[in-house]
Amino acid sequence: MCGIVGYLGERNTKEILLDGLKELEYRGYDSAGIAVLQGNDFANYKAVGKLINLEEKTKDFITKGFAVGIGHTRWATHGKPNELNAHPHLGEESYVVHNGIIENYAELKKELLADNIPFLSQTDTEVIVHQFEKNLKSAKNAFEAFSTTIQELEGAYAILLVTKSEPNTIFFAKEGSPMLVGINTEGEKYFASSDTPLIGQCSDVNYFEDGDYGYVSADEIAIFDRESKQKKPIFSKLTQNKLSAQKDGYRFFMEKEIYEQSDVISDTLMGRLSEDAVIFDELDKNLFDDIHEIKLCACGTSYHSALSASYLFERYSKIKTSVEIASEFRYREPIMSKDTLFIVISQSGETADTLETLKMAKKAGLKTLVICNVDNSSMVRLADSSILTRAGIEKGVASTKAFATQVTVFWMLSLYVAKLHNTLSSQEIAKQISLLREVPASVKVNDEMHEKMKRLSKRYLHGHGFFFIGRDIFFPLALEGALKLKEISYLHAEGYPSGEMKHGPIALADPELFTIALLPEHMLYEKAKSNVEELSARDSTVCVISPKIFTKADDFVQTAPHKDYMLEFFEMMVVLQVLSLEISIRLGNDVDMPRNLAKSVTVE
Ligand code: AGP
Repeated sequence: MCGIVGYLGERNTKEILLDGLKELEYRGYDSAGIAVLQGNDFANYKAVGKLINLEEKTKDFITKGFAVGIGHTRWATHGKPNELNAHPHLGEESYVVHNGIIENYAELKKELLADNIPFLSQTDTEVIVHQFEKNLKSAKNAFEAFSTTIQELEGAYAILLVTKSEPNTIFFAKEGSPMLVGINTEGEKYFASSDTPLIGQCSDVNYFEDGDYGYVSADEIAIFDRESKQKKPIFSKLTQNKLSAQKDGYRFFMEKEIYEQSDVISDTLMGRLSEDAVIFDELDKNLFDDIHEIKLCACGTSYHSALSASYLFERYSKIKTSVEIASEFRYREPIMSKDTLFIVISQSGETADTLETLKMAKKAGLKTLVICNVDNSSMVRLADSSILTRAGIEKGVASTKAFATQVTVFWMLSLYVAKLHNTLSSQEIAKQISLLREVPASVKVNDEMHEKMKRLSKRYLHGHGFFFIGRDIFFPLALEGALKLKEISYLHAEGYPSGEMKHGPIALADPELFTIALLPEHMLYEKAKSNVEELSARDSTVCVISPKIFTKADDFVQTAPHKDYMLEFFEMMVVLQVLSLEISIRLGNDVDMPRNLAKSVTVE
C-alpha cells in the first residue's frame, strides 16, 4: 500500500526521505519518488521498482541548509506502475503526494482539461496539484488555495503538498487515510503515513484526525478541523519498537490484516459504485460481448473466492459458471470454447499453476480476466483485462484481507454483468449496491466477539478433527474457514456442504469431532439448522455461528442481524478468521509464517 513521508529541516533532505521510505517498504510498492524544495529550486526524482533504483538516481543530489521535501512509495490503483504515474505529481510550481483515492477525480479532471491544463499521468492524484494551482490564481495565498482544494475533493486521502509560492512550508490534509506529524528537540518536523519512519527521528507525534488539514513550517504547526476551526496539536510519546509499529501494535500481521479489512474493502469499493451501477473503468466495454459462460480458475483461498463467485454469477448475472482448481485444470485436457470468459484469481498474481492455466486459455483464444492484488504481476501483464482488489500488501501467509476483497470484487462484477445483460431490475441493482456499501461496517472486528473467540479457543485445541459446514455460498466460506484453521493451527479440518454430512462424513461424529456450523438467517436457515441438529443428535461437539439464537449447540456465537445473506457472509468470515487466529496463538504457533507454507507459490 502507498506510503508517505515529509521533512522540514536542515539535514540532507534526500537522505531523510529515502530512509523514511525504506521504513515503509514492508507495506509493498511498485514505484517511488521524492520532491525537494529549497528556496526557489525544486528537485524531483522518480523510479519504478525497488528503492535502490531511486537511490541510484539521487546519488549526487545533496541539500545543505533548510529545505522541505516529500516522498512517496506507490502501490498502483489508477494507472500502471511507471515513472509518469509515480508520485510526487507536478503542477507548474507545486508537487503533491497522496495516499487513498479521489472519487471525483474524473469530474475534476474533465474541468481542468477543458481549461487546457495538461495531465502527464493516469492517476487520480494529479488532479489535486492542478486544482490547487487553479485555485491559487484567485486566492489570497497558498493556504487559502489549499483549503479550497481540499473542500473540493471527495474520497479518501492523506496529502502533502509543497509549492514555490510558499517555499518553506508543507501543506497537509487527512481524510480516511492515516497521517501523522512528528517533532524532535532539534526543531525538525517530519510527516509520515505510519509510525515506523519516525521512530528514531522524532520524540513526539500528533496523529491527524479525519477532516484535519493545515500547514507546517519551521516554526509553526497549524491544524484546522473540518469546520475550519484551528485546533492545537496533541502530541504523544512515540514508541521506539519498529516491529510492533509495523504491526500497528497487533500481535501478528495476520491479526492486523483481519482488522484492516474494513478499510481495504472501502478502497476496493471506492470510485466503483454509483447509485445504480457498478463502474469498472479498467474493463473494456465489449469484454462480455458474446460470452455465454464464465470459467474461474485459482488455487487455495483464491479458489474459495472463485467458488463463492460462481453462486453470485449464476444468481445475479444468470450466466453459466464453472470453477476449477488450477493444478488439476492444467493437466486434464479441458475443453475450452471461445464463448467462455476465463477468469483467474490470485492474490500474488504469480502462482505457477494459476499462471499456467491463464497461458492455456490465451492459447485457446479465450478472452481472459484476472482478479489480482498486485499490479504488474505476471498474471496482470498476461491477461487481457484485470481488476485490482486493492487490499494492499498481505504479509500473513494465511490470506484474510485478500479473500475479503476478492469476494467484494466478485459481488460487484456479478452486478456489473447483471446490468449489462439485463438480468436484474434496476431497483434490485440499486438495492445490491446499497448493501455493498455496508460491507466495510460488517467486517469491523468488535471487542466482544474477539474476546469470545479468545475464550472459546481454549476448548478447541484437541480432538480428532473439525468440520466446517455451510450451505450455498456459505459452503465455500466453510472451506475457507477450514483452510485457515489448518494452515495456522496444524489441526485437521475439512469444509463440507451441510447437506452432504449424512452421505458419509457424519460417521465420524462423536464428542471429539468439532463442528463449526454457519447458520445465516437469510440463506436456507431451516435446512441448514436441521443438518446441525442431526450432528448434535449424534453427540458431535457443535459450535454454531448465527444471528438467531440456537439452543442445541455446545457453543454459540451470535452475529449481528443483517438485511442480506452477503453481509452475514462477511461477518461470519471475520469470526472464522479470529477463531483460527486465537487457536493458533494458544498452540504457540508462528501465525504469520506457518510451517511448510510460502506466501507465493511460484513452483508447481
Ligand atoms: C491462503 O491462506 C494460502 N496461503 C494459499 O491457499 C493461497 O491462497 C494460494 O497459494 C493461492 O495464492 P494466490 O492467491 O497468490 O494465487
